[in-house]
Amino acid sequence: MSENPTAPDSHVERALPAPRDRSEPMFPGGPVADPAGSHHERRIRSFRPRRGRVTPGQGEALRRLWPQWGLDIDGLSRIDLGELFATEAGPRPDLPVVLEIGFGMGEATAQMAAADPGTGILAADVHTPGQGNLLALAERNGLDTIRVANGDAIILLREMLAPASLSGLRVFFPDPWPKKRHHKRRLIQPEFIELAATRMKPGALLHCATDWEPYAEQMLEVLSASPAFDNSQPDGGYAPRPDFRPLTKFESQGLDKGHLVHDLIFRRNDT
Ligand SMILES: C[S@@+](CC[C@H](N)C(=O)[O-])C[C@H]1O[C@@H](n2cnc3c(N)ncnc32)[C@H](O)[C@@H]1O
Repeated sequence: MSENPTAPDSHVERALPAPRDRSEPMFPGGPVADPAGSHHERRIRSFRPRRGRVTPGQGEALRRLWPQWGLDIDGLSRIDLGELFATEAGPRPDLPVVLEIGFGMGEATAQMAAADPGTGILAADVHTPGQGNLLALAERNGLDTIRVANGDAIILLREMLAPASLSGLRVFFPDPWPKKRHHKRRLIQPEFIELAATRMKPGALLHCATDWEPYAEQMLEVLSASPAFDNSQPDGGYAPRPDFRPLTKFESQGLDKGHLVHDLIFRRNDT
């Protein structure tokens, strides 16, 4: 060992905590950070990093339930939905599957799954506390039709879901990106709708809701202009709020601010 006090001192380096490998899961066996890394081009980055605190209960649910019900969106393989929704009784190739993008804390997701046990919900978000919360809700309520996907739903659609595989798509209260220079980050725009259409079966419903009036107008414009979708409303306007959509956290915050909520329900046609 060197006696020279100015020589590089290897034990000092060893004493420093090793930087965390960002690809390592924060919860062993749980969702990984940024599962698709940078190897996939992202035209729209529709979410903001949300590093909310993970409660002990959410962390415990992530560690225990992720291997069974979680899926990292790494963009590397095609998903067999029948296998993904398999139970102890085996795969469920005939289960209709709806993709929900941006489930937040997952309360509405769990309620919709409980109300419709014949439909699988593939729930995608980047928000770790919400992922833990939804897994815990699914277990507590005995719901085996929810799978939680971690990462960018655009990569999930583009790289991992087969054409015409979804029986529905839900986008409830997507980030409104109110500043003009951020409008390009809104999820509902022609490029995304074109991609979504390819992954939906004919007859599948695309259901969006927002409390941000200018975004509602953009959604109506984009969806009405798409040749792949027909408005469920004969007058070509917004849909009345359906009873089956539970109140979401962001919706109640919007209502508290006096915002009007709009639902849009469009049907994938045969084109
Ligand atoms: C404003 S929150 C609404 C959450 C919930 N639907 C509600 O109404 O309470 C929007 C959510 O969408 C998620 N999100 C936005 N873009 C996404 C994307 N491309 N893939 C996955 N999640 C996304 C965000 O992380 C965020 O949790």
